[in-house]
Amino acid sequence: MSNDILERFVGDIVLENPKTANVFTRHGIDFCCGGQRKLSEALYDTKSLPENILAEIESLKATEEETLQDSTLTQLVNYIDKNHHKYLKQKLPEISALLKRVRDVHGDNHPELFDIYDNFITLKEELTAHIRKEEKDIFPLLKELDKDKKALDNAKLGRIIKEIESDHQRAGKLLKSNKKLSHDYTQPKDACTSYRLVYKFLKELEQETLLHIHLENNLLHPKVKARLS
Ligand SMILES: [Fe+2]
Ligand SMILES: [Fe+2]
Repeated sequence: MSNDILERFVGDIVLENPKTANVFTRHGIDFCCGGQRKLSEALYDTKSLPENILAEIESLKATEEETLQDSTLTQLVNYIDKNHHKYLKQKLPEISALLKRVRDVHGDNHPELFDIYDNFITLKEELTAHIRKEEKDIFPLLKELDKDKKALDNAKLGRIIKEIESDHQRAGKLLKSNKKLSHDYTQPKDACTSYRLVYKFLKELEQETLLHIHLENNLLHPKVKARLS
């Protein structure tokens, strides 16, 4: 095993190969807000054996289309839209209906489901408005920036990006709260199929959203800022 990877930032490893996000999430390594840390440091925070994590990472091979670092703004925006925004549009309503049913049936025995549901609904409403804002207010501007066809209002763009990153922080807090309330989505012994399924979906939502935020905060926005300065 080469030690080179240990010296690289966790966020950069995910950008180079998004499949590694699954490995990091599984082992409790923050690649989103804590992405600016070397892997060697991040490994201290996990209870898993470092050699197992490194072996899992090494077994993943990046495909050409998943290597996003060299993408134009338009390609990146299209990728985020086609993958992450589409995922949220499909999944949020589905999880919402299922979680409500699980809360209504199991809430008496598992009162944490009420808080998990409330957090989820806030997250759903905020993310729905958020992706609409990105698609309407910023993605078209970034495509224009690629074409260099018109002068952009840099101050306005900077303001929108700041607002978007603050939305991301709020989403991260809600996800973290639900992770804690559900004990990292550990199913109780009496969990029925719907309960198990909704925890699986919520965990997937967490992973998806953290990767989505990571791509925007750590790849898309720095690319935009570099063009504005
Ligand atoms: Fe987005
Ligand atoms: Fe976003």
